[in-house]
Amino acid sequence: MKLRIIKFFKDFLLWSGILRLLSPFNRLFFFLRNFNVLRAWISLSNRTDLLINDFYSWKRDYPKRYTLYDTVAVHFELATKDILYLEFGVASGSSFFWWMKKNTNPESLFRGFDTFEGLPEDWGGFKKGAMAFDQAQINDGRAEFIKGIFQDSLFPFVESNKSLLTTKPKVIHMDADLFSSTIFVLSQLYPYLKKGDIIFFDEFNVANHEFLAFKIFTEAFYVKLRPVGAVNNFYQTAFIVES
Ligand SMILES: C[S@@+](CC[C@H](N)C(=O)[O-])C[C@H]1O[C@@H](n2cnc3c(N)ncnc32)[C@H](O)[C@@H]1O
Repeated sequence: MKLRIIKFFKDFLLWSGILRLLSPFNRLFFFLRNFNVLRAWISLSNRTDLLINDFYSWKRDYPKRYTLYDTVAVHFELATKDILYLEFGVASGSSFFWWMKKNTNPESLFRGFDTFEGLPEDWGGFKKGAMAFDQAQINDGRAEFIKGIFQDSLFPFVESNKSLLTTKPKVIHMDADLFSSTIFVLSQLYPYLKKGDIIFFDEFNVANHEFLAFKIFTEAFYVKLRPVGAVNNFYQTAFIVES
């Protein structure tokens, strides 16, 4: 009986299209739903066993992200380990150069992906093309920038670097802001994710973007990412791949 009632209502909604009257509120509903899911996730993850966690602090202090990097680097010995550091969203290179300087292992490799022409889509108040920077000079043979939209540049990179991606412990830095960019990169890298790899998100608590990509990715691919540290109320959050 219950199923027949549900079917009747669904058929009515499909036939009539009446819910289209609510279209002006689509963005609001989408945000409210994702924000609620984010807040529930924070309640579950706001634990004292994180290496660092400042929830709730009233002031956002963006440079605190370097404290997060440092804390995670110390704990997992990322300053000396032979790692493959992959950054998605380089812009002027602030975080990329931080990691290059921090890790002194001569065998480590650093790859930074960016259009260097700015965001490929609007993101909140930032318009398409915002955050465009000239590609910075690198004076370190271990590092390279790969220019282009990830949707073009990542697949060829993966195809020609399969053994690197499989053998080296990875530190992946997701700093592309957008849902589309984040979900695309995570999905492409999925076959190469290994237990112990570290993933940073730079705008994790943005409900419609990096958080939504994280949520969909972990649920669709059955990937378990355990939070290890967070600052700025989970704005910057670090995870370890568990399985
Ligand atoms: C917030 S900035 C990166 C900031 C940088 N990591 C830092 O520490 O200063 C985001 C960057 O992501 C890049 N980006 C976003 N989506 C992209 C995509 N699909 N392909 C290539 N670059 C993308 C933009 O060009 C922009 O430079």
